[in-house]
Amino acid sequence: MKLGCCYYPEHWPEEMWADDARRMKEAGLSLVRIGEFAWSRIEPEYGRLDWDWLDRAVETLGDAGLQIVMGTPTATPPKWLIDKRPDMVPVGADGLPRHFGSRRHYCFSHPGYREECRRIVAALARRYGEHPAVIAWQTDNEYGCHDTVRSYSMAAERRFREWLAERYGEIGALNAAWGNVFWSMEYRSFEAIDLPNATVTEPNPAHMLDYRRFASDEVVSFNALQTAILREHSPGRDIIHNYMGFFTDFDHHDVSKELDIATWDSYPLGFLEQAWFDRTEKDAYLRQGHPDFAAFHHDLYRGCTDGRWGVMEQQPGPVNWARFNPAPLPGMVRLWTLEAFAHGAEFVSYFRWRQAPFAQEQMHAGLLRPDSSEDVAIGEARQAAADLEILGEGGPSASKVALLFAYEAQWMLETQPQGRSFQYRELALNFYTALRKLGLDIDIVGPDAELGDYAMVLIPTLPIVPDGLIERLQALECPVLIGPRSGSKTGSFSIPETLAPGVLQDLLPLKVVRVESLRDGVREEGDGFSVSRWLEHVETDLTPEYALSDGRGIVYAEGSYRYLAAWPDARLLSVLVGRMAGEAGLKTIELPEGLRVRSSADHILAFNYSSAAIDIGPVETALGAGNRVSGLDLLEPAGVAIWKR
Ligand code: GAL
Repeated sequence: MKLGCCYYPEHWPEEMWADDARRMKEAGLSLVRIGEFAWSRIEPEYGRLDWDWLDRAVETLGDAGLQIVMGTPTATPPKWLIDKRPDMVPVGADGLPRHFGSRRHYCFSHPGYREECRRIVAALARRYGEHPAVIAWQTDNEYGCHDTVRSYSMAAERRFREWLAERYGEIGALNAAWGNVFWSMEYRSFEAIDLPNATVTEPNPAHMLDYRRFASDEVVSFNALQTAILREHSPGRDIIHNYMGFFTDFDHHDVSKELDIATWDSYPLGFLEQAWFDRTEKDAYLRQGHPDFAAFHHDLYRGCTDGRWGVMEQQPGPVNWARFNPAPLPGMVRLWTLEAFAHGAEFVSYFRWRQAPFAQEQMHAGLLRPDSSEDVAIGEARQAAADLEILGEGGPSASKVALLFAYEAQWMLETQPQGRSFQYRELALNFYTALRKLGLDIDIVGPDAELGDYAMVLIPTLPIVPDGLIERLQALECPVLIGPRSGSKTGSFSIPETLAPGVLQDLLPLKVVRVESLRDGVREEGDGFSVSRWLEHVETDLTPEYALSDGRGIVYAEGSYRYLAAWPDARLLSVLVGRMAGEAGLKTIELPEGLRVRSSADHILAFNYSSAAIDIGPVETALGAGNRVSGLDLLEPAGVAIWKR
């Protein structure tokens, strides 16, 4: 695994570049990402391309022995371009066009902006595509950041109508699929259909779901437009995009089909602060980040390509964008780096080399302080570089457990939540945590994945079951757990004729006849567990495997398939996954609070996310791992223990 950093030569006097490059190398970094926001310097006015400075930056970095990931600058179109094409900006659901003055001020659907992107990407790719120091490209930057996937512009409306015409062929088919007879919502032509914003009350959920599918497809084609040009002019270079944490507004599996490497931007402390975690967890992991959050994404993005993934931006210190921005515990930057290694990352690149003293992110730490002196993280990067010498090649070990994650599930659940606490991402992470606490290695796979090699498959929920999945599930002999609301909708957002779980009734003979969502704090007790938030009433001849105290069934099993008819607490999940692992013949261990393990191809690594030291003797014994190459018996907070397998 390589280490790298994000660098903005355009932010610093040219006299500093060579020394920066030298210091990067000295710190053990071999990769540098540049260029992704530099459009106004590359093309100061329409058609005038200023390559001189970028040529020199590329030479300087390359001469120092650094490999370059070049970003296409399309996330930050310059002011002259907005002035030239004022209608290219995204329009919010409030109907208001966004202004120039930050970033991502473009609408994915605008044909004129797509034309400008083709132009600048082709110019860059021709210039640097075969430069020996340029080893990879990053398309754009964080598609969708700042809520920019769905734009309610004229351009989006035009393309949405075309998209619908293509999907439905004739308007009667659309009216029938959406159920437009309801509230007299019938249309007489595709041209009559608006975008689903600014309606008096909730728009038709089928309309909304199709709009979300369309908006996702727009990201896919926008990315593909760039990758086609890059492949043509830059043969043999990897193409990458940097995704975000728990961002679901477009289908990352679809976008990744055109990428070689899926990467993501990991800010564990910012995410902990911004996400749903309760006060206890936020306090416990204040300076470490949630022990499963980064790992979840490592496994998710590994599953987006055929296994090639990395961390394009790694938090180095306090960030600027969360509600509160604490500093990581000493050692955490090294721990985060090694956790990525354990999951098979090809690289971890720190954001950013030097803290900028100006503009929006001046309070965001870097490896260096604004005055070029060393900040804490650079020392930890050096240490990680030394660890990597010992760890060698890397690559993940094969996981036996698959957890299925589908972006469309999130779109359905956001469109018609039915209970505001039914949060898909939280449910998926809860499943993941239950598995991780048992020491299991996990693959997070998309709904189209081959499942045949797994010993255990978990589907936290999947309201719309895609074609072909039933057959793939039927072919399995291993334990399969299917969560609440699965199969509860057809592809056009209706209740299936046979009621939920719809087509999944081919696996489990049961019918969900009523659902309830429960206010925060309401719990229904079972024997040693409770359920909350969501409860389904099931009709079936099956005897429940787990039931509430009043006898209502919560978990039903038929052969190796299980259906979970409620939002489970951690105890129920833990019992269930433990039982399934036993049936699957997988070895589990009970990890102490805050400790996590992950196997790479040749090593087992243990990470202490807690704020107390942990005696790892019992874990070492349980793992049957004899040959410890790093880490103390009493593993300190942020400590990493490493065993050779
Ligand atoms: C990412 C983004 C970077 C920078 C960083 C700050 O979302 O890609 O450009 O803004 O966050 O944490």
